[in-house]
Amino acid sequence: MTDSRTMNSAPSITRLVDYEAFPFAIDSVDLTFALDPTRTRVTQSSVVRRIMKGQHALELNGKNLNRISIKVDGAEIEADRLVEIDETLMIRQVPDEFHLEIETEINPEANTALEGLYLSNGMFCTQCEAEGFRRITYYPDRPDVMSIFTTRIISDASHPVLLSNGNPVSDQLLPDGRREVVWRDPFPKPCYLFALVGGDLAVKHDEFVTMSGRCIDLRIYVEPKDLDRVDYALQSLKRAMAWDERVYGREYDLDIFMIVAVSHFNMGAMENKGLNIFNSSCVLANAAAATDQAFQRIEAIVAHEYFHNWSGNRVTCRDWFQLSLKEGLTVFRDSEFSADTNSRAVKRIQDVNFLRSAQFTEDSGPTAHPVQPSEYQEISNFYTLTIYEKGAEVVRMIHTLLGAELFRKGSDLYFDRHDGQAVTINEFVDAMGEVSGRDFSQFMRWYQQPGTPRVRVDIEHDQNTETLTIQLAQKSPVIAREDSHKPYAIPVRYQVIDQQTGDVLVPETLFELTEEVASITCAGVSARPVVSILRGLSAPVKLEMDRQTSDLVALARFDDDGVNRWDAIQELYMHAIQEFLETPEANLDASLQQLICDLIRDPSSISDPACLSEMLTLPQDNILWDALQPTDPQKILEARKRLRQRIALAGSSMWRTLFEAMRVAGPYQPSADAIGRRSLAITALGYMAKVESIDHLILDIEANASNLTERYAAYRIARSDASESVSLELSQRFIDRAETDEVLDLWLSTEAVNENTATVDRIKELTSHPRFAWTNPNRVRSVLGAFANRNVKAFHTPDGYRLLADSVLKLDAMNPQIASRLVMPLCQWGRFESTFQEQMKAELRRMAAKDLSKDLYEIVSKSVD
Ligand code: TRP
Ligand code: ZN
Repeated sequence: MTDSRTMNSAPSITRLVDYEAFPFAIDSVDLTFALDPTRTRVTQSSVVRRIMKGQHALELNGKNLNRISIKVDGAEIEADRLVEIDETLMIRQVPDEFHLEIETEINPEANTALEGLYLSNGMFCTQCEAEGFRRITYYPDRPDVMSIFTTRIISDASHPVLLSNGNPVSDQLLPDGRREVVWRDPFPKPCYLFALVGGDLAVKHDEFVTMSGRCIDLRIYVEPKDLDRVDYALQSLKRAMAWDERVYGREYDLDIFMIVAVSHFNMGAMENKGLNIFNSSCVLANAAAATDQAFQRIEAIVAHEYFHNWSGNRVTCRDWFQLSLKEGLTVFRDSEFSADTNSRAVKRIQDVNFLRSAQFTEDSGPTAHPVQPSEYQEISNFYTLTIYEKGAEVVRMIHTLLGAELFRKGSDLYFDRHDGQAVTINEFVDAMGEVSGRDFSQFMRWYQQPGTPRVRVDIEHDQNTETLTIQLAQKSPVIAREDSHKPYAIPVRYQVIDQQTGDVLVPETLFELTEEVASITCAGVSARPVVSILRGLSAPVKLEMDRQTSDLVALARFDDDGVNRWDAIQELYMHAIQEFLETPEANLDASLQQLICDLIRDPSSISDPACLSEMLTLPQDNILWDALQPTDPQKILEARKRLRQRIALAGSSMWRTLFEAMRVAGPYQPSADAIGRRSLAITALGYMAKVESIDHLILDIEANASNLTERYAAYRIARSDASESVSLELSQRFIDRAETDEVLDLWLSTEAVNENTATVDRIKELTSHPRFAWTNPNRVRSVLGAFANRNVKAFHTPDGYRLLADSVLKLDAMNPQIASRLVMPLCQWGRFESTFQEQMKAELRRMAAKDLSKDLYEIVSKSVD
């Protein structure tokens, strides 16, 4: 096992306070790759210069490298000047300025960790963030060392497409018949942004003319069979380029921008300079082979990686504790792009839902950490929802406090002042402080303190004096020790409406809560008021407020903030589920029933179908578990099913009317409007299936659908609510028609979460499917990730926990990053009743006793003692 740590050796911890600048500058790096599946030869030739006084040794990093030679100014280094400990190689007594030449040999074929140089379906590709470059050559593998890279790639004819960062320099045949291609990237960059691709690939070209009139050559490279699925990503890229010019004034800088799709990838995509590498599932789409959700995801991720060219590449991170500097900012940028391009309200509802269900869960569990962590064992474990999503919320709060115009001034200052530098989160916030004259010192606690703060809200309305008082109290996160937490600066956006008419009594206002408690007084409020608070989720906090059903119904009917309308009905669902937990035979609250009927009765009056679809979707398990802990997840599942059934009955025949009204005719369009209508139609169909037999309808949709969204919906709903024969038939038809890996993954995940059929044995059967491979993270996520995160019935059992633990152990030997992500659901034992807790902890302890990778060891040891 190549990636394991040795048992009993204490894990080494990297700390922010220990940061020291690198004492040398690397002015240029020339790399030569002689590609070979099992023995790729890498030659590095660098110009090194001492920039700090003192007798520092040159400290390089290397991992799994076969060292051939190391020369300083042409002379091989004597062994006694080299010290190699773990992943660090020290060269002692180096001159002030010298030429470093290093030759290593690596084995891409054996690289199942998918970090460094590896093979995916015969294609050479790289993934260097965060610390993968050290698997290619000895180098200071840290983001504050920036250099000009020139890359020479030598290969035989089996890999005709040879790519790297920057601009192509030369392309020639060597005397021995091999080809040699040279690329040069004129922008200094850290090695985590290095990329190389070699394969037999097809390409689609396009162009973009920038705001200063430069014509950029755009290219997407894929395996030849996938060339009919690249158009949407190309269109998305052009939209993103135009948006970044319009909204941030940021122009692309190289003459060429390339995207390459690969099948084996640990994450979504990677922003390597000029050569973005994508998980194929985040690029490839056409009507027949991608759902609406996939189209939207692709648009967002293409934009995200493109936006990194400024937020991440031109201005990069000093060290990995600053990861959210680029990721939080870039997620904020891509979510605003999606909001501008599609429906702002829906995008925000989806983001808030994701934040609350996933990031809040992380933030209250054993791996909770600040947006700017202070220490880590394995940096790969810190590509988290907190760094990305909470980090984006923190940037959003700055935007809220400053307003769009000042925020833009701040971002201009940040990008211009720090262009070409590796900086910290402070530099970003300082720029925002400078343009606004605001003091952000209290605000910085959002970056430093872990956990989700709570805001308690109490309302008092005095009819006589017509005064409304809103009392606010901030409380520390549940996980925090009371004394360790200092109050946050919390932007609280609120509005007050009339409970009966929905008329606005107090227009939207921004209040800044900086003390532990504060109160807001509104005069002249005579009607019965309802307060819409934390509108749009103006801060990533948990709201604690005792709200009556009548107030929640009023918000769900009238609030002009999409998030709060949605949030109000979600809380009503929560109340209902709580009631079903106690009284299974209880009826649905009459006013909730009325509300639902009113929402769906008249399809012609529905202005935003996508929002309504979100409103008709019940809260996710994670949210229920958090609110109702300690829980029995099986009981919650039953209560939730009961609520779903009651809602279905309440809507009765209106579901069919709604379904038919929302169906989209004509050729497939992944437009926000069409996606919203399809989403609501499918939600209606799901409820309809609970009140009447839909076998015929579903067979008809499956046979005639013009797109995968509808065909997939028919299959999915059949699998849970059609007769057994139709359910089996549609499952078979779906896999029979699953030509692409992406459609295969939809089938695998749907089979893995199916409550009626996906037992632990069925999951094992899926991992033996001829198209399943443990070495492909997408397959693993589709079966085991879906099972552990979305199949409550089978996962939350002793056999389910054991299956996950066994799978994690098996994966850990191949791909530690994937293993340590997959184990997460077991680490959430804290929110369940003791029987579940004990079973989950038993599996974690069984794992902890084994020889684990650094990645998995960190997560498991933090989760159980
Ligand atoms: N920087 C990438 C992003 O845009 C994240 C990423 C891609 C990554 N692949 C990775 C991080 C592999 C760690 C390991 O979000
Ligand atoms: Zn990113």
